[in-house]
Amino acid sequence: MNAMISGAGSDRGDDHGNDLHDGAPGADWHDLGPRDACFGDSPCLQATVNGVKVGLFLVDDEVYAIDDLCTHGHAMLTDGELDGFEVECPLHGGVFDVRSGKPMCSPVTRPVRTHPVRFYQGGVYVKVEG
Ligand code: FES
Repeated sequence: MNAMISGAGSDRGDDHGNDLHDGAPGADWHDLGPRDACFGDSPCLQATVNGVKVGLFLVDDEVYAIDDLCTHGHAMLTDGELDGFEVECPLHGGVFDVRSGKPMCSPVTRPVRTHPVRFYQGGVYVKVEG
């Protein structure tokens, strides 16, 4: 097995930090670089992939990726406050669950998209539909 970075995600069989996929990520996975470089100073990282601003959030040794742009207005969620699995928008205080993209409180009512994330040989990879 290659460098296992995550804990619980490997048991869930999903793509959050899961290093149990067979083989290297395909061309549709975007390499964000080593995990420590991605999240050295902050648990929040913004990346632009396929023209989409994506917010990546490190929680309990797992990485979750959602659209960074709030569905309520023009604000980047990576500029907000991360509290557990919830990120608060810096503009009006709407909250999203980074695991599901689900809006958790007013004024946000529409979810943000989620994107699969995986680790492979110490690197962080995300797949984003344009
Ligand atoms: S812009 Fe995010 S809650 Fe209003």
